[in-house]
Amino acid sequence: MKHPVTQFALAGLAVLAVFGAGALLALRSLGHTEALRDARQFATLAGQGVVEPAIAPGLLGGDREAIAAVDRIVQERVLGERVVRVKIWSRDGHVLYSDEPRLIGSRYPLDDAKLDVLRTGRTQAELSDLTGPENRFEQGQGSLYEVYLPVRAPDGTPLLFETYQRTSSVASTGRRIWMPFAALLLASLGLLWLVQVPLAWRLDRKLRRTQQAREALLVHAVEASTDERRRIAAELHDGPVQELAGLSYSLSAAAQTETSPAARETLDRAAAGTRDSMRKLRSLLVEIHPPNLRASGLQAAMADLLAPLQARGIDTELTVEPGIGLDEEAERLVYRAAAEALRNVQRHAEATRVRVAVTRGGGHVRLEVTDDGRGFAPGERERRREEGHVGLSLLEELAARAGGGLEIRSAPDEGTTFRLELPQT
Ligand SMILES: Nc1ncnc2c1ncn2[C@@H]1O[C@H](COP(=O)(O)OP(=O)(O)OP(=O)(O)O)[C@@H](O)[C@H]1O
Ligand SMILES: [Mg+2]
Repeated sequence: MKHPVTQFALAGLAVLAVFGAGALLALRSLGHTEALRDARQFATLAGQGVVEPAIAPGLLGGDREAIAAVDRIVQERVLGERVVRVKIWSRDGHVLYSDEPRLIGSRYPLDDAKLDVLRTGRTQAELSDLTGPENRFEQGQGSLYEVYLPVRAPDGTPLLFETYQRTSSVASTGRRIWMPFAALLLASLGLLWLVQVPLAWRLDRKLRRTQQAREALLVHAVEASTDERRRIAAELHDGPVQELAGLSYSLSAAAQTETSPAARETLDRAAAGTRDSMRKLRSLLVEIHPPNLRASGLQAAMADLLAPLQARGIDTELTVEPGIGLDEEAERLVYRAAAEALRNVQRHAEATRVRVAVTRGGGHVRLEVTDDGRGFAPGERERRREEGHVGLSLLEELAARAGGGLEIRSAPDEGTTFRLELPQT
């Protein structure tokens, strides 16, 4: 898996890219709308502010003087980088004026959009269809916007004023509007990202350090508890266990010299009871302070685990493959699993026989604990687990974490087989 900070940085970059692209598109369309508005305003200013006052009454009749007067104004003040053509139409479709003289006097009936402008007085803009015959002289100028609006002759006759503006100039106006915003936006997004990455990196380092501290604390706590168990075991062993041993010895000795049979029997029973308590204490010692596996060896440690079962009259059999040589972790897990399996046999199985085997082969170590007890139905374990009995589930987890597995086979009255497998090279 990649480093979390790298992941964070990449995810941040992806979000930034998506957001940035969305914002750029929105800005661009905003710029475009603005530019179109600008084109319309320019046409309105040219038509109503500049050309309309120069229209003489004679223009409607095709008077040369009147045409020349409009042409002067158009050439001087309207045509340029942006506007490449101007036309003035009468309502019936005659071109009354154009800066292209070949068009003047010809007639192309106005379409609905243009008639609409004359009716409503609203300015219209659209991408020019340069294939129309009235537009044949505008070809070769690139794509053009037609913007048309109504103007009035001195006698009040409504006329249509039309400009053709280069789309490239409209687009560049748009760019001038949105580019600075886009640059600012991208810069601040990038900056935000740059600021976040070191922050995330610091946070990650802090988290890691906290986690390490927690782990160290846990290890320390486990060690402390092991120390404490060792101390209690030592005190029990050196104190009560030794005293009980002495006591049972004295009681037996007293029984030997006692003449009254009743008293002797009482003393014998007391001596036996004391020895029994001593044995119980000793097996408690094994539980609270498990043997040092390395020192005593798996075989001896497993034999100790079987002792309480033998004491209950259960027939036991133990085989540990000679020279099995497991690594420390596997050895500990095998011991722990055997302890749980045998505890279960003692508590639940009502068995008369139990067999324990530790073998190696095929890159695995295998522990098998088989009993001939009452077994259990599949649902029982589930039910017990819900009541908080998690011995086997915990082992399953430990085995999985060590890369191995745990398998329990059982059926009512058919005994139980417990099998743990761990990788071992
Ligand atoms: N050898 C066995 N013979 C019969 N039943 C068994 C045997 N081993 C396990 N079981 C059944 O499976 C159940 C689950 O065992 P598990 O070890 O998970 O829990 P537990 O022993 O009941 O409680 P703990 O959490 O103390 O181990 C047991 O309650 C018992 O019903
Ligand atoms: Mg159990």
